[in-house]
Amino acid sequence: MIEVENLIKVYRRGKIEVIAIRDVSVTIKKGEFALLIGPSGSGKTTFLHLIGGIDRPTAGKIVVNGKNIVHFNDEELTEYRRKDVGMVFQFFNLLPILTAIENVMLPMEFAGVPRSERKKRALELLKKVGMEDRKDHYPDEMSGGEQQRVAIAVALANDPPLILADEPTGELDTETGLKIIELFKELNAEGETIIIATHDLRLKKYATRILEIRDGKITG
Ligand SMILES: Nc1ncnc2c1ncn2[C@@H]1O[C@H](COP(=O)(O)OP(=O)(O)OP(=O)(O)O)[C@@H](O)[C@H]1O
Ligand SMILES: [Mg+2]
Repeated sequence: MIEVENLIKVYRRGKIEVIAIRDVSVTIKKGEFALLIGPSGSGKTTFLHLIGGIDRPTAGKIVVNGKNIVHFNDEELTEYRRKDVGMVFQFFNLLPILTAIENVMLPMEFAGVPRSERKKRALELLKKVGMEDRKDHYPDEMSGGEQQRVAIAVALANDPPLILADEPTGELDTETGLKIIELFKELNAEGETIIIATHDLRLKKYATRILEIRDGKITG
């Protein structure tokens, strides 16, 4: 599903150069539950942003479902971000002025899904993450874990085959984090391919794959 070849990302600001990803080649198969584990500054977020089409690499190939996304123009990349990947971040990525259900409906609106269908699917997704009774609540009326569950529903809105999550349990207490982990486990059991960058070693027992990243290199 994902073939990364000789991936390099160099950040440049003035004379300072940071090599965040250094010649990484890795293949992730459909249905895998991969963990990206490594110390702070090792390149986890950068790697997810490159795979998710949020940032562009300096060199290398990222082939997702047969297409090299590195060659996509801005329009194709926007389309890719909208339909092919769902992103979950550490700090909850909900719009504060929208309710839970409106947040979940938004990516579908961008994808041109008719309103009645958007509403129906958003409700189904909120049910899936256990938040249907909070559908009309705004983000600041929900706990961190609840917001993160809604954020996962947002990521799933356009039914992407790939979910990327960056420290999704980082800001949550132990118990709440565990519920989010369970949710990812269920999604993976339903066939979703998942890559999670994390320091949370409780996720290890559900992973089909551990990718260790150190200083921009993936080992193992
Ligand atoms: N926009 C940027 N400009 C310059 N350097 C950057 C930029 N973004 C990241 N870096 C650098 O790239 C390297 C990798 O950063 P990245 O955020 O991918 O690490 P990380 O593994 O996600 O760390 P953490 O666990 O702290 O989130 C770091 O040295 C960081 O300082
Ligand atoms: Mg990071």
